[in-house]
Amino acid sequence: QCPLRRLLSCPGTVAADLRREEQSSGSAETGSEDRTAKKRFSEVQNKRREQAQRTVLIHCPNKIDEKKFLKFLSQHGPINSHFFYESFGLYAVVEFCQKESVTSLQNITRTPSLGPEAAIPFKSRYFNLKLRNSSNQTSELSSIQCSNQSSPSSKKLYQLLCCAESVDDQLNTLLREFQLTEENTRLRYLTCSLIEDVAAAYFPDCAVRPFGSSVNSFGKLGCDLDMFLDLDEIGKFTAQKTSGNFLMEFQVKNVPSERVATQKILSVIGECLDQFGPGCVGVQKILNARCPLVRFSHQASGFQCDLTTNNRIALKSSELLYMYGALDSRVRALVFSVRCWARAHSLTSSIPGAWITNFSLTMMVIFFLQRRSPPILPTLDYLKTLADAEDKCIIEGYNCTFVRDLNRIKPSGNTETLELLLKEFFEYFGNFAFNKNSINIRQGKEQNKPESSPLHIQNPFETSLNVSKNVSQSQLQKFVDLARESAWILHQEGKDRPLPSSNQPWGLAALLLPSVANNVSLSKKKKKPASERIKNLLDSIKSSGAENSTATNGR
Ligand code: CTP
Ligand code: MG
Repeated sequence: QCPLRRLLSCPGTVAADLRREEQSSGSAETGSEDRTAKKRFSEVQNKRREQAQRTVLIHCPNKIDEKKFLKFLSQHGPINSHFFYESFGLYAVVEFCQKESVTSLQNITRTPSLGPEAAIPFKSRYFNLKLRNSSNQTSELSSIQCSNQSSPSSKKLYQLLCCAESVDDQLNTLLREFQLTEENTRLRYLTCSLIEDVAAAYFPDCAVRPFGSSVNSFGKLGCDLDMFLDLDEIGKFTAQKTSGNFLMEFQVKNVPSERVATQKILSVIGECLDQFGPGCVGVQKILNARCPLVRFSHQASGFQCDLTTNNRIALKSSELLYMYGALDSRVRALVFSVRCWARAHSLTSSIPGAWITNFSLTMMVIFFLQRRSPPILPTLDYLKTLADAEDKCIIEGYNCTFVRDLNRIKPSGNTETLELLLKEFFEYFGNFAFNKNSINIRQGKEQNKPESSPLHIQNPFETSLNVSKNVSQSQLQKFVDLARESAWILHQEGKDRPLPSSNQPWGLAALLLPSVANNVSLSKKKKKPASERIKNLLDSIKSSGAENSTATNGR
């Protein structure tokens, strides 16, 4: 048995249990390779949205009798599922079987009277449960099982990685630990649904849909919640009524451009969230950005939210990434490891700036997997050739057509291991001719760069846009240097893997170690390395780094 596992009393069966769990829950949403279970993106979105509409969020007292709580709620109708979580207090997410139960519950709730302060009587699905005599209830309460909403600590991750059986096992372990859980996904859809209630006060029949990493299968626990206020449903609803002389004047009030309309809509919704939105704090209206947005924290769920509108192309690119993530189980494992690696080395940041983004990293991994022989992922152009008439999709003049039925795409014949792919990923981008070439997942081929940004990754649909326009030369250089060094570490690892009986970091654990990040040739700081072996490795990296210290321009 691995001594670390014994030492840190990490139960020997954890990894195996998790593996079994993943196998048994295999579906397109978790990205496993059970091809029969693969659902279309729109099916998943619709099912989850409907589920969220039957769900309520309840802030509970810290001590609560779960049985009584559920019995009380089921007076309003049968409950389908529920879970508890902690975020500045105890919260319950309760999904009823029927939507009517939510209305029934709303009808018996009251707006609190706050003494001299006044409450705004907004009838939401976010409740606060106050028990009158909570003191005598607490005595024989069994503790509530809370679902975890955050990613594992570095220490726990490190333990799990060191106890893994192989580098492949390490990548899969990291994926299992960081991917969004079922509960976290539900909470994301519920939060969108609660915001939709607020927006619906202005725009009845609107929809607030999550997009980005919350739904594209590449989200890590703790990632932001990107939401899209979809007003198209309203258009559809009225478009059917073509006869008659009445046009709804209030709906056709004209503004000079689509952008101005977007700004006006977000401005009022932002104001509304700020003034009346239950649990919405720190509302910022960022209306002059290329893509105007309202940013806020949803306190109860703990999510940092970005609300946009008129952003249908981003929803489509989320669908595309979801498809790539579901096509082959290696895709998500590789993307998660690359994202964690980038975070560990401060290549990405939660603050906007000249850094590379997770979205760009995902595009790079997809491109790399398209370049394998045989390819692991098909090009977007190929997915377009598989599309049928129903898949046709033109948004703002951009052709966003691709096949949406995952089951129509043949699996790849490539059987390369994750270990090899990770090493080759670092080698590939450590030697990529960034100075002249652009990354293009539509064609799956390097293209000449159309402009001079240090890093050029073509937006898959708005092909004139560069997804990584913000990235500076020095950030790109940092990425290239770290990629080279990581390739080198993995290369050495292959030759000289520590015995399972040693407690030395190896494989992915060695790549993620903060001591590695702090000691690579890029950093001036010197810290004591974690072990002699790592120290030796780093010394050799430094000398090889010095030889290769030419910029990012090619092989
Ligand atoms: N997007 C885009 N072009 C960009 C940035 C973002 O098209 N330059 C779209 C992508 O569809 C992306 C979504 O907007 O998935 C959300 O952007 P962001 O939150 O930056 O990325 P995520 O993919 O959600 O990743 P993260 O987990 O870092 O939030
Ligand atoms: Mg995001």
